[in-house]
Amino acid sequence: MRHYSTLSFRLPVLMTVLLALLCLSCNRSEKQWHIGVSQCSEDIWRNKQNRELTIGGYANNNVYLEFLSAEDNDQRQIEQVRHFIEEKVDLLIVAPNQASTLSAVVDEAYDRGIPVILFDRKTNSDKYTAYMGADNYEIGHTMGHLIAEQMERKGTLVEITGLKGSSPAIERHRGFLEALADYPDIQLVSSELGDWTELSGRAAMEEILRLHPDLDIDCLFGHNDRLAMGARQVAMEHGQQDIRYYGVDALPTPGGGIDLVLDGILQATYIYPTQGLELTQLALRILNGQPFERNNLLHSAVVDIRNAELLKMQYREQQRVSGELETVHRKLDTYFSQVNVQRKVITFFLLLVVLIMALSVIAFRAYVTKSRLNEELQQLNVEQQQLNQQLEQRNDELQQLYKQLEDMADARLVFFTNVGHKLRTPLTLIAGPAEQLAADKSLKGPQRQLVEMMHRNLERLKQLVDEILDFRKIGTEQLGDLPEEPAAPASTTAGRIVEATDKPDGELPEVLVVDDNPDVRLLVKTLLQEHHHVTLAADGKEGLKEARRIVPDLIVSDVMMPVMDGLEMCSEVKRDPVTCHIPVLMLTARTLEEQRVEGYAHGADAYITKPFTASVLTARIDNLLASRRTLRRVFSKGLTAEKPVAVPAADDRDSNFVERLRGIIQQHLADADFSVERIGEEIGMSRVQLYRKTKALTGLSPVELLRKSRVEKARRLLETTDKSISEIAYDTGFSAPSYFAKCFKDEYGKSPGEWRS
Ligand code: FRU
Repeated sequence: MRHYSTLSFRLPVLMTVLLALLCLSCNRSEKQWHIGVSQCSEDIWRNKQNRELTIGGYANNNVYLEFLSAEDNDQRQIEQVRHFIEEKVDLLIVAPNQASTLSAVVDEAYDRGIPVILFDRKTNSDKYTAYMGADNYEIGHTMGHLIAEQMERKGTLVEITGLKGSSPAIERHRGFLEALADYPDIQLVSSELGDWTELSGRAAMEEILRLHPDLDIDCLFGHNDRLAMGARQVAMEHGQQDIRYYGVDALPTPGGGIDLVLDGILQATYIYPTQGLELTQLALRILNGQPFERNNLLHSAVVDIRNAELLKMQYREQQRVSGELETVHRKLDTYFSQVNVQRKVITFFLLLVVLIMALSVIAFRAYVTKSRLNEELQQLNVEQQQLNQQLEQRNDELQQLYKQLEDMADARLVFFTNVGHKLRTPLTLIAGPAEQLAADKSLKGPQRQLVEMMHRNLERLKQLVDEILDFRKIGTEQLGDLPEEPAAPASTTAGRIVEATDKPDGELPEVLVVDDNPDVRLLVKTLLQEHHHVTLAADGKEGLKEARRIVPDLIVSDVMMPVMDGLEMCSEVKRDPVTCHIPVLMLTARTLEEQRVEGYAHGADAYITKPFTASVLTARIDNLLASRRTLRRVFSKGLTAEKPVAVPAADDRDSNFVERLRGIIQQHLADADFSVERIGEEIGMSRVQLYRKTKALTGLSPVELLRKSRVEKARRLLETTDKSISEIAYDTGFSAPSYFAKCFKDEYGKSPGEWRS
């Protein structure tokens, strides 16, 4: 592993180094020399030279030559030299147009550290690196002797010079004059200024002919071939055919000096060497720091008819060679540019290969690391699983423990709740009598104190029981119902414990008490019996039976009872048309909210929990009965009317009962034999049931109701008909007019006769 990582660390570094070397080798190149060439003129001679300079550079592919031509304009050349200075050319080759005007700017280039080669022409200064050019003094001198000798040392001669301030013109003129000094019979009639161009040759000749119209000129020396040719054109135009012409340059190009010699137009000319190749070599020697000559004088020769052909041939050969050279160079150029492209492509691919290799190494390293990490992760997973199993085991153990604790707590709660419930009933049974005793005014002194102490402590006990049950509520409301203390076995009179009379008691409200605990029954009865008629029943079934039989004004019932519980009984009571109007008060140890709701859902009108306070119970009973009395007033409205009267806000079944009652009575009003028993038969109730229900809902007994209805009908007949009182009495079911009169007076306070009048 360690071996791998060291290697994989070293490999990319190694590759990067390799790559850098590769790139360096690709880009390695010699310094590119920038050479500025400032030509004074634009002519065939300069073009030839520029071409030679270019070919000279071929040997070194690191030379860049930049050519500029001033076209014989001093100012332009000054600017062009300045341009080269600003470009910081590595070397400046300059042929200054006029020495005096160009000296300053050439000096500046030199002073700036740019090597300067003057060629062909010079400046006035010594500030140049090297000079290359022909010996112009020598040219002038040679041509002077040549012309003088060909003139056979006598005759007239004119000279047209090059540009006044240019060094070749000055030097050629000086050499020419000095040569002529040897020939006293030769007269240099005129030396006219030109500027190297053919046009200036023409102008100069015009001037000569103007100044010397009659002069017979034997020979003319132009400082170059073009000046001589310009002058010749003018001379010919003026009819001067015999002048012999001499020039300088001897260009081998078509129409150049050599051709002119071959054509016999020029007598002779002097090769003014361009030597571009040598010039480039000199420049490179300077640039490469190699030794060089400061003054390089180029030697040359006179061209006349004897050597012109040879030179022309030489030139052609030279041209052919240069042409081939140029072709080769062009091909080389193409080849090098192709090589360059190929080199770039190869470099790119090498880079790509190195990159791919480096990436592969990195990927391999990553793979190895990932595998190792995976192994470690798997190991960790196994450990984690083991830990999880242990944890689960612990968790199970803990849950078992927790369950045990919960069961214990539940058992304790059940115990507390049972105790609480069991305590309620006996407490109620002690509290009730104690309250009664405390209410007894006859108890005085120590007995009263004892009773009060007993009463106080009973209240405290009740609170403690409540707290126990509240605690249970907080803990386990989900535990569900718990049985109350089992009821004491029904007394020997169970099922026959009815202590009410069979006859309805008109004075006191009839209350049915249903409870399986005989002590509770006794307590409630004791509490109520002073103001109520009380009937007792030991379970729901018996209670229901009693309710149907006696139709009580109110039922007080326990909930948890054997045979039929209080809830079912209550539902049955409310379902039966005979008993549905009876209010039911539930008296129970079931204290929870939902148990209370359940009670009301089964039709209970009130709900009081044990242990109860006697005064609360009686007050609640009184309220229920009072509200029933209020209801009676509602039902009694229109009770005796001929037509049905809508009874608002009353129970449907009860209002139906009342309406049926009214209808039956109205139907049989005239029937003197129609009795209460007949109403009971028609309505489907026993005499007692009919009596109790009618009394409960209307406050009147059926007999009273029947009589009231008859009297009221009679009153209407008295008011609306002319029938006799006896007739009306019989019509309204009275068997005797005297009884009718009594009943009428009882109802309205007046006899029927008095009422009618
Ligand atoms: C070319 C030229 C030649 C002449 C030389 C003098 O530009 O005019 O004809 O010999 O320059 O510098």
